[in-house]
Amino acid sequence: PRSIIIDTDPGQDDAVAFMLALAFPEAIDVLGITTVAGNVGLTKTSTNALKLLELIGRTDVPVFAGASAPFAVKLETAEYVHGETGLNGWTFPDPVTPLRPEFAPDFIVETVMSRPEKSVTLVPLGPLTNVAMAIAREPRIASRLDKIVLMGGANIEGGNSTPAAEFNIWVDPHAAQRVFRSGAEIVVMSLDVTHQALIRKSWLADLGALKRKAAEAFVGLLSFYERFDEQKYGSDGGPLHDPTTIAYLLKPDLFEGKFVNVEIETTPGLCFGQTVVDRWSVTGRDKNATWITKIDADGFFELILEAFRRLP
Ligand code: BDR
Ligand code: CA
Repeated sequence: PRSIIIDTDPGQDDAVAFMLALAFPEAIDVLGITTVAGNVGLTKTSTNALKLLELIGRTDVPVFAGASAPFAVKLETAEYVHGETGLNGWTFPDPVTPLRPEFAPDFIVETVMSRPEKSVTLVPLGPLTNVAMAIAREPRIASRLDKIVLMGGANIEGGNSTPAAEFNIWVDPHAAQRVFRSGAEIVVMSLDVTHQALIRKSWLADLGALKRKAAEAFVGLLSFYERFDEQKYGSDGGPLHDPTTIAYLLKPDLFEGKFVNVEIETTPGLCFGQTVVDRWSVTGRDKNATWITKIDADGFFELILEAFRRLP
């Protein structure tokens, strides 16, 4: 299996990504989960990661807390999407599993440096603060990583935090800039693709019909989560952003993309936090990322159903 580290701010859609990664152990080995402030503050994102692992009895996966605030700007959170806990829609017991004592960026550095070159994939699902800190501490991890497959950014679709910027990049653009300039191989799941992955009511019904514990919890979580986006995206429901990254690792054939240059706007103003995508190579800047533009949404949702069939 492919070894991965998930860096995350759960978040209902982050939570689906965990389930997808943990349901296919023959293909994916989750070495650890690192948490960052984003959708809600760090204490909550860390507790949420533990709650999700306890739900499916996978407390063997270590969880490390990381950055509680972005590099250079004040933390902005998204309770208006995810609810006050970050995981509204289902009531979890308080977790009994402890966090590991190590700081998340240190865990990332140590894991990548101690394992064979190109054997670890990093999957960031929140603001890129931890990832940028890890790269700042040990720049060699950028080339030692197999790749970084992240959810963040927007180009054709426009932003969801501002007209120009998507939430994960907008919360910490300085961190994102470091990551995109690090030399790592990067695959980007932006709103351009996640807005094609809308949670349909009929699919939620299929999930409920599985009559399994985890699936039942996620019907609750996702019914809460998509109620916010539904008004914006229409009757098809809200986009399931973060699990597209894991789906890409499991089934790359579900996706299409283009290798391009991506820069991050860090100048304050209208376009703060924008991913500037050179789709037509007009700048001559080195290409640094595969910008995914298309997903087979039916195949994607079928894969997630399959994951929940395999989970408790
Ligand atoms: C991203 O922002 C968060 O609210 C979601 O979890 C996702 O990672 C989408 O813009
Ligand atoms: Ca997220």
